[in-house]
Amino acid sequence: MTENKTYIVRVPATTANIGSGFDTLGMSLGLYNVVQFVPTEGKALLETEISAEGEGAGQITSGLDNMIIKAMDETAKRAGKTVPGGKMYLINRIPFARGLGSSSAAIASGVFLANMLMGEPFNRKEILDITAEMEGHPDNAAPAILGGFCMALLKNGNVTAERIDIPSHWKAVVTIPDFELHTEKARAVLPKTYPRSDAVHNIGAVSFLMAAFMYQKPEYLKLGLDDVIHVPYRLGLIPGASDVIRNAERAGAYGATISGSGPTIIAFAPAELAEKVGIAMVNGFAAAHMTSRYLVLDFDHNGIMSV
Ligand code: HSE
Repeated sequence: MTENKTYIVRVPATTANIGSGFDTLGMSLGLYNVVQFVPTEGKALLETEISAEGEGAGQITSGLDNMIIKAMDETAKRAGKTVPGGKMYLINRIPFARGLGSSSAAIASGVFLANMLMGEPFNRKEILDITAEMEGHPDNAAPAILGGFCMALLKNGNVTAERIDIPSHWKAVVTIPDFELHTEKARAVLPKTYPRSDAVHNIGAVSFLMAAFMYQKPEYLKLGLDDVIHVPYRLGLIPGASDVIRNAERAGAYGATISGSGPTIIAFAPAELAEKVGIAMVNGFAAAHMTSRYLVLDFDHNGIMSV
């Protein structure tokens, strides 16, 4: 650690599940939070002064209530070290509780920053293990750290993750309604068990989803996104969501679904139709008297990094 040096970490938004890949698949999006940190020798981590601009800037918590600080503390403990406090400045572009991986981004940036401050005792795989364990599922954590389109499985505290590239001419159109939906609430509506036919359906769908990306066959995307494990149960929590998905497809998207646990809806579209798709999606929410905004995003291929 160098005192008075500014450490800067950039972390991407992520979209988890990708329809049929519940708790397993995720993609990294070209929308970033930035954490700037200047350590002060002798200052305790929990005394870090935090200020912020952007999404949720007025609601920033401090000490262990702040997920970045909590992740820094946990990472230092795992290395058997301590990290100092200091001044932290956040540029938040990832909206909170909208299904775009804001909590994974916060945890990942805390783990990554603490690792930098300690002289990098952990490699990227270990950073992913700590982040996924703190988050509870690896589908946002893996793309936040590795970038691209990731498959990830958490077993006995160990994450196995693989990433593939996303076709460069595909865009993500994320349409963000003006309300928060917390993951716990969106998980509480899911059944505890499923019939075998639903399991078989999703195994088939996820197989075609992978083919759509790996062989760049967008004609398989709609089938690949066709989930029966979580999407049908969550649509009722997002007014207008079914119309938004239908509007996106009619406007030329390859397919659309709930981003993570919602309420954002994500469409995959060719670049030339992306704006049209976004407008159609906002109109879908408006028909249900919901205010929303859309962003046309590139996919991120790098994951978290120091800048
Ligand atoms: N896979 C998780 C879910 C992602 O859908 O509940 C939310 O962070």
